[in-house]
Amino acid sequence: MSRPPPSAADALVFFGATGDLAYKKIFPSLQAMIKRGTLDVPVIGVAKAGWGIEQLRARARDSLEKHGGLDPDAFAKLQGLLRYVDGDYGDAATFAALRKELGAAQRPMHYLAIPPTLFASVVEQLTTAGCTAGARVVVEKPFGRDQASAIELNDVLLRTFDERHIYRIDHYLGKGPVHNMLHFRFANGFLEPFWNRSHVESVQITMAEDFGVQGRGGFYDSVGTVRDVVQNHLFQLLCNLAMEPPVRTDSESIRDEKIKVLRAMRTLAPEDLVRGQFDGYLAEPGVKAGSKTETFAALRLYIDSWRWQGVPFYIRAGKSLPVTCTELMVRLKPTPSVYSTGSPAANHVRMRVSPEVMLAIGMNVISPRDESISLPTEMLASRHPAAGEMDAYERVLGDALRGDATLFAREDYVEEAWRIVDPALNADTPVHPYQPGRWGPDMAQALSPPGGWHDPHPG
Ligand code: BG6
Repeated sequence: MSRPPPSAADALVFFGATGDLAYKKIFPSLQAMIKRGTLDVPVIGVAKAGWGIEQLRARARDSLEKHGGLDPDAFAKLQGLLRYVDGDYGDAATFAALRKELGAAQRPMHYLAIPPTLFASVVEQLTTAGCTAGARVVVEKPFGRDQASAIELNDVLLRTFDERHIYRIDHYLGKGPVHNMLHFRFANGFLEPFWNRSHVESVQITMAEDFGVQGRGGFYDSVGTVRDVVQNHLFQLLCNLAMEPPVRTDSESIRDEKIKVLRAMRTLAPEDLVRGQFDGYLAEPGVKAGSKTETFAALRLYIDSWRWQGVPFYIRAGKSLPVTCTELMVRLKPTPSVYSTGSPAANHVRMRVSPEVMLAIGMNVISPRDESISLPTEMLASRHPAAGEMDAYERVLGDALRGDATLFAREDYVEEAWRIVDPALNADTPVHPYQPGRWGPDMAQALSPPGGWHDPHPG
């Protein structure tokens, strides 16, 4: 029998309080939680900036004004909850001050919004200072840069926290439309008869962004597209699409099904990976001279399970592409040709998860003007703006505070995901240039799915 989830945290500590992530995502999420009535515990920011609480409050105000808008009542409450500890992460005095701020808290949540290279020393200092009893820890992606470093990182965390108290953020899972994929699959019976190798010809997932690295050149250059979004966000989408129905809806039952998908996935072959780099990337601040880091990746993957064996799964992601949109396309096998005018287009199921939600089924009808012509058309199941949904960070931070781990990556999942991409990433495959605003390098066509790549057209 699975153990009950931990009870709600009674203090939120966030390291990296003066950083970019706090500014863009964490303060807006905290305010949103207050508005929704889901945050009522002390919030302790930790950073080394030589600041006091007034400067942190000013930073929070500025963050809210720039990202989503300041709500005077909620902000006043946030100010009341906010505390600040300034100091070096290597200095025991910082953690002694934190221990003092924690007061009588029994179940603090330590959110490490800091580079992974600092995790080990912060966790060690937290332990020594007596801040980890009853505590949980939340960490940001990327979780390692390969399987070996992920295992090492997990070992560091597991020395202090048990797996039930470790929350590895993949903010994509906090997006409502991503969650909705499971509902669409498992709340509808009609998909099930054809959702398998007998009827599905191929699956493709495209995550396109029409902007470059946006001043994050230093970070981006150390990861590249596969580590930045494929191994985590897009594998999660693929698992939602390919997993078996969970036997229950608790976090472990759902995560058990996801890991089975990854276990059945073949290790990516170097010839099933095309990498690209947009022209101009090398001039971005922070990018190393002559960098071979990819800003575009196309992959072909196989899941050797009873349901999916033989069906190719394609993933394509990149920066400086023509649009910003994340979309999944499940193409069915063509029907036998009974009409002398040629074969109708293959049916499909299309799921757009960003920037709007769209669920559509592609089919053929006869042209009203010419009965010898078959017209491909789509039946729209749902279409609405993703705006107005709960922000992904609000959802994941709220879940971690409540002790619900469903939307977080489990240790075995992260390590298995690296197992799949590691060898191809280490194979030093060529990086093909492409012009910004194009669908990646021409070489991506070499990996083209049957029927070609489906280019999303949002708007
Ligand atoms: C982040 C990546 O995890 O996800 C970014 O580091 C990417 O490179 C971003 O742009 C996309 O997420 P969202 O929520 O902005 O679509």
